[in-house]
Amino acid sequence: MDSLMRAMAVMSVMICVLSAMGSLPQLAEAKHAGITRHYKFNIVAENIRRLCHTKPVVTVNGQVPGPTLVAREGDRVLVKVVNHAQYNITIHWHGVRQLQSGWADGPAYVTQCPIQTGKTYVYNFTITGQRGTLLWHAHASWLRSTVYGAIVILPKRHVPFPFPKPHKDIPIIFGEWWNVDPEAVISQALQTGGAPNVSDAYTINGHPGPLYNCSAKDTFRLMVEPGKTYLLRLINAALNDELFFSIANHSLTVVEADAIYVKPFSTNVVVLAPGQTTNVLLTTKSQPANATFLMSARPYATGPATFDNSTTAGILQYHQTNLTSPSSSTSKFRLLSPTLPTINDTNFVTSFTQKLKSLANNQFPANVPQKVDKQFFFTVGLGTSPCPKNQTCQGPNGTKLTASINNVSFVLPSIAMLQAHFSAKLAGVYTTDFPNNPPFPFNYTGSPPNNTMVISGTKTVVLKFNTSVEVVLQDTGILGAESHPLHLHGFNFFVMGQGFGNYDPSKDPAKFNLVDPMERNTVGVPSGGWVAIRFLADNPGVWFMHCHLEVHTSWGLKMAWVVMDGKLPNQKLLPPPSDLPQC
Ligand code: C2O
Repeated sequence: MDSLMRAMAVMSVMICVLSAMGSLPQLAEAKHAGITRHYKFNIVAENIRRLCHTKPVVTVNGQVPGPTLVAREGDRVLVKVVNHAQYNITIHWHGVRQLQSGWADGPAYVTQCPIQTGKTYVYNFTITGQRGTLLWHAHASWLRSTVYGAIVILPKRHVPFPFPKPHKDIPIIFGEWWNVDPEAVISQALQTGGAPNVSDAYTINGHPGPLYNCSAKDTFRLMVEPGKTYLLRLINAALNDELFFSIANHSLTVVEADAIYVKPFSTNVVVLAPGQTTNVLLTTKSQPANATFLMSARPYATGPATFDNSTTAGILQYHQTNLTSPSSSTSKFRLLSPTLPTINDTNFVTSFTQKLKSLANNQFPANVPQKVDKQFFFTVGLGTSPCPKNQTCQGPNGTKLTASINNVSFVLPSIAMLQAHFSAKLAGVYTTDFPNNPPFPFNYTGSPPNNTMVISGTKTVVLKFNTSVEVVLQDTGILGAESHPLHLHGFNFFVMGQGFGNYDPSKDPAKFNLVDPMERNTVGVPSGGWVAIRFLADNPGVWFMHCHLEVHTSWGLKMAWVVMDGKLPNQKLLPPPSDLPQC
């Protein structure tokens, strides 16, 4: 690994020199528009068998995971989605900035009405200033459990990676599988007010792997050659679980996360929250080893609720070129397993996330907002709401389980907020009074207040174009502390700092990283702690922000930012496309 790191250091020096010398051709490249790429996503029900259970599931083109969307930085992407399934659906391009193209973002009832059965919608967006791995997924109810796939954004032509060119590039997508219909699971939970049933398996590229009953043959296998470097594009597309990932006897070099290059570091274990992506380099051993290596993922879990604590595994296997050795038959190989941190190893997660730093060089600068125009302090966590009359509820003390930001449990409207924002006629779809601070202060990470009831509403924060925003996200201990992966649509944000206990506005800002903080679209609010983020509101539209644990989104841990148009033509939300779905 050491020599690899050295090679990278040399490479990045070379890139600086090259870009200093060759700034003219690069400018020409930047002006040269990308190409247009066409995709067709047929939403179809397909019978899928896992763990000896066959059930019809909603898929894109009959596949789980769905097709990988490949584009180059600067390309325009047109995805024609035709819905042949019984559920209304939308697709979200998770992490794609969608500059001026909010209509293509995808969250149901936020930027669009869902695509109804039998209907079509063309998502039309251009990938600007991003390169790396992201994911796409359904953004209506829990349909993303089977409707998800990888987004691979290649650098512009003739622009190298800031790391050695890999021999091959392989998406590794983690998913979550229920033997029953996940739509029934969540709708029942919302009815009763209790926690939804946990999944039956995790999957790697759709396969649960050999550690589950009735699944031995359903295993993802990665065939590799000795002495080569592979780029693994790790994607956590699970619904409700952060995951640890490791490959037996191999270390990994992290080079990118959420489509942002990072300062490379080596690790045996990667942790990813749902919605996060991490590119790692895997250098295979120079001698084909007489062993096969498990690659495994299992949850990092801190919350009070039960969770699926099973382990998914795939196999890393070396191509055996010399078949002269009698020991080269696969069955005789030793099978080695990786060591994963314990389920609630917050120390590991903290030290891993602190290693993530933006590359922050001349070619890929970190444009960290140095001043802040608007400050927000948001508590995130669980809570309760009253049980409807004549019903018994399965939440704490007969209430309904819920989740909130600043004590507001967000309710999706019945027409899209972006339409309401764009057309002056649609007043009353949402309000603009989302609180900047919790309604009353309490010891957020200490013993909970007597009243844990939340209010509900469709409340937003309105921001002027180009406002520099700082948000401190504070976990609460109400019903138990828990790590919450918060995802912001339409922007990347910088992770300025994080800590445990209650955020201290007089001491903590002094420790913020203003130089090379990680830039990303999804960040874990530490269990029993806080994280501070900054972003520049330079993208007009309505932008969802929510916990990417889908169960918490269902319970209301979500809100929306309304960013007004700027003065210049390229600072305005473009008009809606003519085929925008109607409610
Ligand atoms: Cu990946 Cu709003 O979601």
